[in-house]
Amino acid sequence: MTTERSSAPPSTQLSTTEVAVLGLGPMGRALAGALLAAGHPVTVWNRTPGREDDLPARGARVAADAAAAVADAPLVLLCVRDRAAADAVLDAAGEALRGRTVVNATSITPADARAGAVRARAVGHRSLHAAVLTPTPTIGRPEGTLLLSGDAEAFAAHEPILRALGTVRHVGTDPGRAAAFDTALLDLFWTTAHGLVHALALARAEGIGGTELAPYAQGLPLLLGPLIEDFARRADERRHPGDRSSVASAAAGLTHVAHTARARGLDTSVLDAALAVTRRAVDRGHGADGVSTLVELFAQ
Ligand SMILES: NC(=O)c1ccc[n+]([C@@H]2O[C@H](COP(=O)([O-])OP(=O)(O)OC[C@H]3O[C@@H](n4cnc5c(N)ncnc54)[C@H](OP(=O)(O)O)[C@@H]3O)[C@@H](O)[C@H]2O)c1
Repeated sequence: MTTERSSAPPSTQLSTTEVAVLGLGPMGRALAGALLAAGHPVTVWNRTPGREDDLPARGARVAADAAAAVADAPLVLLCVRDRAAADAVLDAAGEALRGRTVVNATSITPADARAGAVRARAVGHRSLHAAVLTPTPTIGRPEGTLLLSGDAEAFAAHEPILRALGTVRHVGTDPGRAAAFDTALLDLFWTTAHGLVHALALARAEGIGGTELAPYAQGLPLLLGPLIEDFARRADERRHPGDRSSVASAAAGLTHVAHTARARGLDTSVLDAALAVTRRAVDRGHGADGVSTLVELFAQ
């Protein structure tokens, strides 16, 4: 059962729901909007009413509660803040989920995604976890990227609809695999973002403005492309020749940056941690190896 609250004229109302979207934060609204734009009948629900924005005007039905939202929807997209919120919504939908396919697009850990699949089997619905890798403006466009993992048959059955969200790819039947991709990429993002803000603080301490530094920092993405390719191949081959740069050289460079930052009274805790790992590699005899050898060291 759904409560019609759309202001769209009756002729544009769609009679059956293909997808229920549970959770209408910025991402949930973007997902629902992309589905509507692609012509799929959508029912939406959010814990706090009134967060539908223009979705009803665009043809979405608004359900009174989570169970009502999923009642006639073969596919359920769940997108809320975290695992606790996702569990609360799944609890609220309860038995009404039986027989549905639930795609949980909430950011959670790989272990949480695996636990979600166990829970889904107990309730009797199919489940996929989706890692949304790109921000809301990309959703519904080719650059919008979602990785899904879990039930492969469920993915195949719903892929034509899921394609409305952007570029979607099934990365394996292990339910935690999409979240594992997401977590590794977030590791890269946050350590990079931390490096950026620390560099801005160091530049400021040396009397250089952010916008003065920025044009030179913009050169970094050009270096990163080939570096990612090179390090990734070396990591997979477990071979780390120091032909282009060495761990010993990286340790010297980090020492100089940490020294400069400390002399300016800046917090150097992250630089010190990176330096400690790099020096450990030197101490273990890897000074002449390439920096990618640290991949092996983290795992020890
Ligand atoms: N925004 C992005 O660009 C982006 C990109 C990639 C991934 N994601 C992921 O997408 C998910 C949703 O993000 P978001 O940006 O839409 O906003 P958000 O602020 O992370 O989540 C807001 C949504 O969570 C719901 N919620 C929070 N606690 C709840 C609870 N205990 N029970 C039921 N619902 C609860 C909110 O409902 P109320 O309105 O009732 O509070 C609202 O629907 C997150 O996991 C986020 O990491 C977002």
